[in-house]
Amino acid sequence: MLNLESIAEAGGANESDLVQKAQDQLGTLALDEAARAGFMRDRRTYFLNIAYPSMQAMEPVSEADIFPADNATSQEKERKVALYLHVPFCSAECYYCHYYKEFKKPEDTVDAFIEGVQAELTTHEQNLGDITARSVYVGGGTPSYLKPEQIDRLFRAIKDHVEIEPDAEVSFEMHPESSDEERMRVLQEHGVNRINIGVESFDDNLLASENRRHTRQEAIDALARANAMGFSNVNIDFIYGLKDHTIPIWENTLDTISELRPSSATLYYLRLKRGTPEYKLFQAHPERFPSEEELLLMHAMTFERLEGELNYTQNPVDWFIRDPKYFHTYQDHNWRRSDDTELLGVGPSAYSYMNGWQYYNVNHTGRYIESVMQGHIPVWRGERLEGDERMRRTIMLGIKMGIHRDSFRQTYGIDVVDAFPQEWESLSALDMIEVHEDAVVLTYLGKLLADETGKAFYSETMRKRMEQVDPSLVSTTWPQFNR
Ligand SMILES: C[S@@+](CC[C@H](N)C(=O)[O-])C[C@H]1O[C@@H](n2cnc3c(N)ncnc32)[C@H](O)[C@@H]1O
Ligand code: SF4
Repeated sequence: MLNLESIAEAGGANESDLVQKAQDQLGTLALDEAARAGFMRDRRTYFLNIAYPSMQAMEPVSEADIFPADNATSQEKERKVALYLHVPFCSAECYYCHYYKEFKKPEDTVDAFIEGVQAELTTHEQNLGDITARSVYVGGGTPSYLKPEQIDRLFRAIKDHVEIEPDAEVSFEMHPESSDEERMRVLQEHGVNRINIGVESFDDNLLASENRRHTRQEAIDALARANAMGFSNVNIDFIYGLKDHTIPIWENTLDTISELRPSSATLYYLRLKRGTPEYKLFQAHPERFPSEEELLLMHAMTFERLEGELNYTQNPVDWFIRDPKYFHTYQDHNWRRSDDTELLGVGPSAYSYMNGWQYYNVNHTGRYIESVMQGHIPVWRGERLEGDERMRRTIMLGIKMGIHRDSFRQTYGIDVVDAFPQEWESLSALDMIEVHEDAVVLTYLGKLLADETGKAFYSETMRKRMEQVDPSLVSTTWPQFNR
């Protein structure tokens, strides 16, 4: 159980103004009530809520389930999608990372993967008809692991099969070690207008101990290079809660963010997942990690600094944008799902929401390539939501951005508040949400505990299924979970 009194001590002896402000703010929140109601975050069970239920509770599915051969109506519809492309390569392992990736693969393996993407998109086009992307996200793994010429080929493969809307947001993830001008120029030629750089921390010791393979200065240089090349929208990713992460180290990172003023920044609470070196260390030496109380303090320090002092806006939750024009459209398409924009995930372990199905591609590059080259979509696990389950999913993901009551009503024929009155009432009593005339939004406390808030909307059936899943695996696509 959370020792809420210790939040006051978590800042240590040399308390800064920022720590003081964060502590004061936490002092005003009904944290213990939220904890008693089961909403407190705990890193042994925490996961980023992106699918309902999580992949580990989904059943194996077949391609024919999701893309039936006689699905004539499928092709009549104009297919507008948010396109996700998973590039499963990295130069080495960061010790906390639970995404599906392979290390140091030679050029010919990458070439085979690019051919695989071409093949998967060919099959999708045959199944779906013309595909238009309203947003594109190339993630991984590390997409910038590819050589400039391979990046060029990857985009050509996409454009052979998908029409990208002229004003679409097109994002590409880069690691600082492979964020050179040559690669950036290729990205520019292909219309990439948002770069996402993994930075994680501005502390050199911490970067080294997580095997990040770049220094604080190299991360700063990567951001400056992207800006100098004319990329105005550059998001940087951070994680808090890593081993040996202290309040002063976190404050230093926030200070550097304040100096750099990136167009946007994402702050992730560490997901400790089985199979990662970070998880193993936590099992053996939990004392090396900040306490849950310290994590709450770091989170509140982030709010106080970025929203309170620098006027950034948090939307969706954990994404901080300097100006509304940097709003992350792809995430909006993904989380505030409506039936007219589906999510098409391409590549091993990619996640999709197509034809009413949530599904994951297989998390194995070799098997992926083999299957797509034979004209198949290598689906792995999936779930088609029936009855009110779709509404529940829309709420638990949509609440991270605020739910527009009108658009919810248009999709489901019912006001979101009338759909689940008891759930909203208890969240409101805990001061985790606010109901406005046009929208339902998270409060300060609701944002601190956003993924937990969403869990209030699990149906009984899904709750039982999720209870069967090992929490240390939920939300990981890393192959320790491969059944
Ligand atoms: C898939 S990585 C791609 C970025 C790029 N490969 C890099 O590392 O620079 C996207 C982001 O996910 C976040 N991430 C990865 N593993 C995480 C974990 N276990 N907990 C929280 N965030 C994590 C990191 O912030 C990372 O930058
Ligand atoms: S954080 Fe990025 S570079 Fe590190 S292992 Fe994960 S995907 Fe690869």
